[in-house]
Amino acid sequence: MDGLTFVGSLPPARRRPAADLLFDAFQSKFAPLLGGRSHAVALFAACLHPDRAFVALRQGELVGLAGLHYAEKRFLEFPWPAVAAEYGLLAALPRALVLRFIGSPAVPGELSVDFLAVAEGWRGRGIGTRLLHEVFALARAEGLRAVRLDVVDTNPAARRLYERLGFSPTSTLRLPLLFRPAGFSALTTMVKPLS
Ligand SMILES: CC(C)(COP(=O)(O)OP(=O)(O)OC[C@H]1O[C@@H](n2cnc3c(N)ncnc32)[C@H](O)[C@@H]1OP(=O)(O)O)[C@@H](O)C(=O)NCCC(=O)NCCS
Repeated sequence: MDGLTFVGSLPPARRRPAADLLFDAFQSKFAPLLGGRSHAVALFAACLHPDRAFVALRQGELVGLAGLHYAEKRFLEFPWPAVAAEYGLLAALPRALVLRFIGSPAVPGELSVDFLAVAEGWRGRGIGTRLLHEVFALARAEGLRAVRLDVVDTNPAARRLYERLGFSPTSTLRLPLLFRPAGFSALTTMVKPLS
C-alpha cells in the first residue's frame, strides 16, 4: 500500500499519537476504568515502552500499532507512581489494582501481542494483517516459538482475522463481574506456533 512503512519501535514524536490511538481503539474497555480521555491518554503516554511496539506509519503519521510483550518487558506497564501522579492517591488505588490485569501474563519462549489497533479510517486495508506478519518475523528473529494474543467475546471480526493468520484458541477465561462495565464477559487466548 502506498506510503506505508512498518517500523520495529515507536518513534519518540509518536508517543502521544500512540496513546490517542490506543484510547480510540479500546475506549469502551478503558473508559470505565480510567475515566475521561485526557487522563487515560496522559497515563498511556507516560507508561508506554517504545521498543515494545511495531508500528505502521504513513508519511510519518501513526496509522497502526501492535503493543508487544516479550523478554520480560511489555509495551504498557502501569507503575504505581505514574498512576498516583495522574489520578491522586485515593482514586489511583482501585485503578492500579485493576491495571495489573491489563495485558498477558509472561510465557517464556513466546511473544504476546497485548494490543493491536489500526486508526479508524485505515481499517480493512490490510494494515493489521501486515503488522501481525511483521510481528511474526520479529518473534522468529528473537528465537521465540509462538505468538499469542487475547480476543474478547464481542469482537468476532478480529477473531476471524486471527484464525485466518494461523492462530488457534487455547483457552477461554470467563471474567469476573468487575470487568463487565468494559463490555465483554470472556477472553479467549489464541496462539500461533512459529515454524
Ligand atoms: C482489528 C484491527 C486491528 C484489524 O486491523 P485492520 O487493518 O482493519 O485489519 P486488516 O485490514 O488486515 O484485515 C481486515 C480484517 O479484520 C477484521 N476487522 C476486525 N475489526 C475490524 C474493524 N473495526 N474494521 C475493519 N475490519 C475489521 C475485518 O473483518 C477483516 O476480516 P474479514 O476479511 O474476515 O472480514 C482493526 O480493525 C482495529 O484496530 N480494530 C479496533 C481495535 C481492535 O478491535 N483490536 C483488536 C483487539 S483483539
